[in-house]
Amino acid sequence: MRGVMLLVLPIAVIFSTCKAVEFYSIGGIFGDGPPPNPERMIFVQSAIRNNIRSNSSAFRPFHAAARLQHTKLANNAAVLRKMCVLLAYNVSLIVGVADFDVVNMVATTSQKIQLPFITPSFALKESFPDMEFDYVVSLRPSLVQPLLDMLEYNRWKQFAYIYDGKRGMRRADTFMQIFSRYDYDVIFKHLLTEEPITETLKNMRDSGRHHIIFDLSLDASENALRKLQANDLGMVTASYHYIFMDLDIGEIDMNQFQLGGLNLTGFRLLDKDSDAYQDFILDWRSYVKNSSYIEVDTNYFHLSNPAISVDMMDVALEALDMFRLDSRGSVRKKERALSCNLGTSYAPVPNRDGPKLIEIIKKVKLQGLTGNIEFDSRGDRTNYSVQILGLRQTGLEKVGTWNGQNENRLTFDTFTEDESPADAMSGRIYTVTSILSPPFLMLKKDADQRRGIDKYEGYCVDLLEEIVKVYKSKHSIFRYKIKLVADGEYGAQMENGKWNGMIGELIYGKADIAVAPLTINVQRERMVGFTKPFMSLGVSIMIKKPQDNQPGVFTFMQPLAPEIWMSIVFACIIVSVVLFQVSRFSPKEWHPVEHPPPTPSGTGEFNLNKPGERFVTEDREETENDFGIFNSLWFTVGALMQQGCELCPRSFAGRVTGSVWWFFTLILVSSYTANLAAFLTAKRMVMPISSAADLVDQTTITYGILKSGSTETFLKTSTVPVYRHMWEFMANSEDSPFANTTEEGVERVRKSNGKFAFLLESAMNDYYSQQPPCNTVRVGNLLDSKSYGIGVNKQLVDVRELVTLAILELQEQAILTRLEKKWWTSNNESCRIPNIPDHMSKTSALNLVTLAGIFYILLGGLAVALLVAGGNLFWRSRHEIIAAKSRYIEKHKARSPENKKKLPANPEAQTKGNGSHTPV
Ligand SMILES: *[C@@H]1O[C@H](CO)[C@@H](O)[C@H](O)[C@H]1NC(C)=O
Ligand SMILES: *[C@@H]1O[C@H](CO)[C@@H](O)[C@H](O)[C@H]1NC(C)=O
Ligand SMILES: *[C@@H]1O[C@H](CO)[C@@H](O)[C@H](O)[C@H]1NC(C)=O
Ligand SMILES: *[C@@H]1O[C@H](CO)[C@@H](O)[C@H](O)[C@H]1NC(C)=O
Ligand SMILES: *[C@@H]1O[C@H](CO)[C@@H](O)[C@H](O)[C@H]1NC(C)=O
Ligand SMILES: *[C@@H]1O[C@H](CO)[C@@H](O)[C@H](O)[C@H]1NC(C)=O
Ligand SMILES: *[C@@H]1O[C@H](CO)[C@@H](O)[C@H](O)[C@H]1NC(C)=O
Repeated sequence: MRGVMLLVLPIAVIFSTCKAVEFYSIGGIFGDGPPPNPERMIFVQSAIRNNIRSNSSAFRPFHAAARLQHTKLANNAAVLRKMCVLLAYNVSLIVGVADFDVVNMVATTSQKIQLPFITPSFALKESFPDMEFDYVVSLRPSLVQPLLDMLEYNRWKQFAYIYDGKRGMRRADTFMQIFSRYDYDVIFKHLLTEEPITETLKNMRDSGRHHIIFDLSLDASENALRKLQANDLGMVTASYHYIFMDLDIGEIDMNQFQLGGLNLTGFRLLDKDSDAYQDFILDWRSYVKNSSYIEVDTNYFHLSNPAISVDMMDVALEALDMFRLDSRGSVRKKERALSCNLGTSYAPVPNRDGPKLIEIIKKVKLQGLTGNIEFDSRGDRTNYSVQILGLRQTGLEKVGTWNGQNENRLTFDTFTEDESPADAMSGRIYTVTSILSPPFLMLKKDADQRRGIDKYEGYCVDLLEEIVKVYKSKHSIFRYKIKLVADGEYGAQMENGKWNGMIGELIYGKADIAVAPLTINVQRERMVGFTKPFMSLGVSIMIKKPQDNQPGVFTFMQPLAPEIWMSIVFACIIVSVVLFQVSRFSPKEWHPVEHPPPTPSGTGEFNLNKPGERFVTEDREETENDFGIFNSLWFTVGALMQQGCELCPRSFAGRVTGSVWWFFTLILVSSYTANLAAFLTAKRMVMPISSAADLVDQTTITYGILKSGSTETFLKTSTVPVYRHMWEFMANSEDSPFANTTEEGVERVRKSNGKFAFLLESAMNDYYSQQPPCNTVRVGNLLDSKSYGIGVNKQLVDVRELVTLAILELQEQAILTRLEKKWWTSNNESCRIPNIPDHMSKTSALNLVTLAGIFYILLGGLAVALLVAGGNLFWRSRHEIIAAKSRYIEKHKARSPENKKKLPANPEAQTKGNGSHTPV
């Protein structure tokens, strides 16, 4: 008793302070077993949750005080005393577990003191079909009609009904009455505690009863299954069919048994896919996190009993809220303390609100964890549905639904996959959720004819197989089945706070592991566990591969930029002129004419029109110069073409000119040849863009992304100016740049003739660029960096650890790289063009800047040649003048004066720039 008070007091204290808020007490009667007792905890903590919620929002704006009493449930006197204690606490109603032995007492007492009693323990229709309990409302749905419908559906005539426990006994009683109305041949067998079931089963087998209904507790059901599959019984072949009545039978791991082709049917109350269930789990989880009062783990709610308890409290609170609204304005008077007046002769003082409240409770309508909650006039559940479970390859799974309100109460799901009864297997099979996304996971071409995992192929399948191998090498087993994510999403938090996609399946326990291109991010990491990443990647740009430059007629022009060609022509002319000039100044270039001149007309003049110019000295000896302007040109062109001609400069200046020109042509021709070879062998491409900045800087190419993908999130939230700019451009674009699927975006790139670029994750980009028709290409660097990891249900900590170790091992052995190569390299010949390196410039013709050096050297050489020629001329002319002077003086002294007239001719010829006329 003192322990009870200790438990009650703190709760009472919390709420006794808030006077302003309306306030009701709820009594709870629960068993006194040792903690943890989920039902007891849920009772208290549901009330606390209600109070927190009513504080922060206008939801059920009253406070509930949970008055907890625990006692020996099977003891009439003890339970009665507790009920009276609660009455004295002025509780408005009582919730609690009712033992089948004391139900009658509880029902009559609650009627006498007018306290509604809500219980999760039984269904009236199932356990007390003939009784009227005015003040009892039961939360447990009846399985009578579902079982009858299943029997009819399976056309069972001869079967056995094995039951244990008090609930089983009551239910069996009910069925005995009902079955007597049908022409069923049934054997009922009450399994006593500690009685081994093997003998019973053997009797059934020997008497030819292959159809058995097991109305056993969960543990006993599991034990029965274990015995059934054992060698000495072996009652697991295709001729056997069992129905299990426990609502949690779906939680048993069927993979631990070696079940043959038998049929198993079970019932399940909780629809873990329902909105109500998922909302509740999320909500409760956030309370567990925020409040130190609430500590019941959400794992409890996988079982039906705690879930029914949650619904029971919800019904109680909802009823009180409705009652509060209903009695608004009327003053609640309590002149006297309520009491049972135990042991006195006075009549009990009942709860005056009772009759009204019980009516209200029966009108409550809710969506709870156990589905639609509604009551009939007796206080029994109505309009509820129960899932039908069947044995499939992966365990007991939902195969249909029973709904009492439907015309066809039984509806069976249709299965596209052909599923067979469970194979003989042992150990847990993990459910892997994934998504069809090439090349990570794809359906094989002949998937219709394949089953299970064999239907799929891709990187993820191989990755899983490798993980299995790593496990095997450590003598442990990792087995899995692949289940595609139902909604085809990766997983994001929706507006209502729930998660969809693969992340949602992990959170709500529908899958154990997610192996898919699943990006690791903070929000997801909070909800599920991620392994170490198996692939790193980033957002990248995809463009259409530019047309190959097919070698054209004038391809030979391409290795050099046009300005180079122009420069070469000018250089040729300039060099020729220089050569012409320096040859003229140099006496060495002049040599005697080998043949007599054809005409005498050239005397004293230069004939520019003829190659090989002649000069006639005063003594009529003819000399000529090979480097006339045309010969010079011929010499330069010949050198440029790498062809010799018999002309050869003999003067120093001419040779300097020739050398620098030869040097120039050497370099030029080598560069040209090398570049031409590159041009002709490699298919050159001109990348219109090579980075995100290029995209932003132009307007002809539009760009887009996948709708509501991680790329969108990245661009939307980025603070980098270039990416912000991109996002603004896309957001303001009239022509929607958002693709619904990756394929759609890639198709758009392929079709839009280079006018559209698509931003997507590099793994996809690389993959599509290797897929026929191979006309897309990834350009530029990655815009960001992230990684794909394997998501694991938060509860499976050890699995996450093991898979992480496996991934690290695969990484070390370079198996991940090998897999990547396998799935990312195309088998199609036409795709085998190596990707264009990022650094490739827009055009690779040699330009002036690259070749400027040889032009400088050429100019320098020409300048040197001119200087040398000039110096030579200067020195020679001085020498000539001195010589001429001395000759003149000599002649003047020695000869007659008629020679004087000839002398000035020489200087005159020199001033015309003809060079020395001294014959060699
Ligand atoms: C609700 O608010 C009242 C005061 O407004 C406070 O005393 C009480 O502790 C709050 N209850 C809970 C459960 O937060
Ligand atoms: C129950 O109500 C009576 C009358 O209003 C009051 O005297 C009594 O203290 C209340 N008991 C408790 C435990 O609140
Ligand atoms: C098992 O159940 C399926 C579907 O209900 C049925 O087609 C099959 O005949 C049953 N097998 C046995 C042995 O009852
Ligand atoms: C829990 O706390 C977070 C942050 O303080 C808040 O946003 C959320 O609403 C709280 N949840 C509940 C159920 O109070
Ligand atoms: C049964 O419950 C559903 C809600 O789950 C409701 O739509 C339907 O009308 C109910 N049927 C009856 C007959 O009350
Ligand atoms: C993308 O999806 C939206 C809505 O789902 C649809 O309206 C639109 O037409 C789709 N776009 C394309 C190109 O299919
Ligand atoms: C290779 O790609 C071309 C188109 O680029 C396609 O026509 C051909 O069928 C592909 N070959 C194979 C083996 O896939």
